Amino acid sequence: MAPAAAVILAAGKGTRFKSDLPKVLHRVGGRSLLHHVLASIEPAGFDQVVVVIGHRADDARAELDAIGADVDVAVQSKQLGTGHAAEVALSALRDDIERVVVLPGDSPLLLPPTLDALLADPADVVMLMAEVDDPTGYGRVVREGNTVARIVEHKDATHDELAIREVNAGIYRFPVDGLATVLASIGSDNIQGERYLTDAIAGFLDRGASVTAITAPAEQAAGVNDRAQLAAAGVILRQRILQRHLLEGVTIVDPATTWIEADVTIDADATILPNTHLEGATAIRAGATIGPNCRLVDTTVGEDATVVWTVTNRAEIGPRATVGPFTHLRPGTRLAAGTKAGGFVEMKNAEVGEGSKVPHLSYIGDATIGRDVNVGAGTITCNYDGFDKHQTIIGDGAFIGSDTMLVAPVEIGSGAVTGAASAIAEDVPADALAVERSEQRNVEGWAARRRDLRGEKAPDKQGEGTD
Ligand code: UD1
Ligand code: CA
Repeated sequence: MAPAAAVILAAGKGTRFKSDLPKVLHRVGGRSLLHHVLASIEPAGFDQVVVVIGHRADDARAELDAIGADVDVAVQSKQLGTGHAAEVALSALRDDIERVVVLPGDSPLLLPPTLDALLADPADVVMLMAEVDDPTGYGRVVREGNTVARIVEHKDATHDELAIREVNAGIYRFPVDGLATVLASIGSDNIQGERYLTDAIAGFLDRGASVTAITAPAEQAAGVNDRAQLAAAGVILRQRILQRHLLEGVTIVDPATTWIEADVTIDADATILPNTHLEGATAIRAGATIGPNCRLVDTTVGEDATVVWTVTNRAEIGPRATVGPFTHLRPGTRLAAGTKAGGFVEMKNAEVGEGSKVPHLSYIGDATIGRDVNVGAGTITCNYDGFDKHQTIIGDGAFIGSDTMLVAPVEIGSGAVTGAASAIAEDVPADALAVERSEQRNVEGWAARRRDLRGEKAPDKQGEGTD
């Protein structure tokens, strides 16, 4: 096939978004609009992809870097219209390119088979259109007889033209031959004073080119011009993502309350319970159960792990680990296989070795915990002295008594024990006991005398002396 390029128009501000951020950088379903468009054209395997940027071009470049997209960039420094944007793209086009597919950067719902149909059509020029119930805002496809004659923008349309429900999807395939001439001839004599790419259709017809309009499913032709349309596109993207995982063998108990972003991966036979949000580059392995009520961001969960009522960000949860309820795993938390992070436990920059348990009410930050360690309820790593963060190291098999304060930097040797409620500020040798608390004093009869003073009875001593 003749070498083909995709040109994505992404230089506009997106005035109707009422935003500082360029429209195509607004996110939905875990990706920017621009990223969705790049993902939708990926399977077509274009020989070159050119992205036209302009408004806040540095932000657009940063997003392209973040996506890791292999694209060329053309800069449209003044946004004079879609026709002008396409013309700017020509300067970045490789010499061997013979066909160009132009797409708007704000149409995130296009699916690969539709693009395949656009590429396969034998006509010289092919455009995508859709038949919609409400054509408001879209360019209308004006026919003469049965054939497409031109496109008229909503704002320029006559009363009769406004009634047309065949709308322009803004996606076209042009031959490179003649394209520069046609684009150069597009004027700005219209209500918006812009150079409309839509006029290229009439331009090619004037040159005797054949033009076909392919009807795409209305959903795929939808553009996103404001935040209401962004949210509407989000509903469709979300359903598609859920459907994909369901058909790939993931149990999703309640799709209505499950939010999964586009780049999340989930193995077959994982189970997602209600009210769960999986975001970013989160990956869930087979047999894991997530939820109810979890938000996992950029987190990996190993095989057969269980995560319930938990919030995580950039954490790694090993196979068979159990996490939650009410657990907060912050960046740099790495739980090895078979570990436990239980209720009301917060961790950050913490490595927890195989089989180790932090079951209740703990803060573990900037710590390395070996294998088979038990960290008693209420244990805190005092990692911050008001200026700097310090490390806590706990060796294999150590037993940290409940309510131990580990004043970092501090190292607990393997097999060592700390007494409950100790503030441990010095290293503990392997296999030692460290206790740091005042000696207990019992004052005989004190409580009884206090009761007598207040005129209270002694408590019932249930079960005492009854048989
Ligand atoms: C455009 C079409 C309309 C079609 C609709 C489909 C024109 C004139 N109109 O209208 O017929 O029904 O898309 O969604 O083309 N852009 C630039 N530089 C510019 C202007 C725009 O790069 O100077 C980019 C925008 O960032 C956007 C895309 O082109 O990603 C489309 O522009 P937009 O203003 O959204 O066009 P619509 O009014 O939606
Ligand atoms: Ca648009």
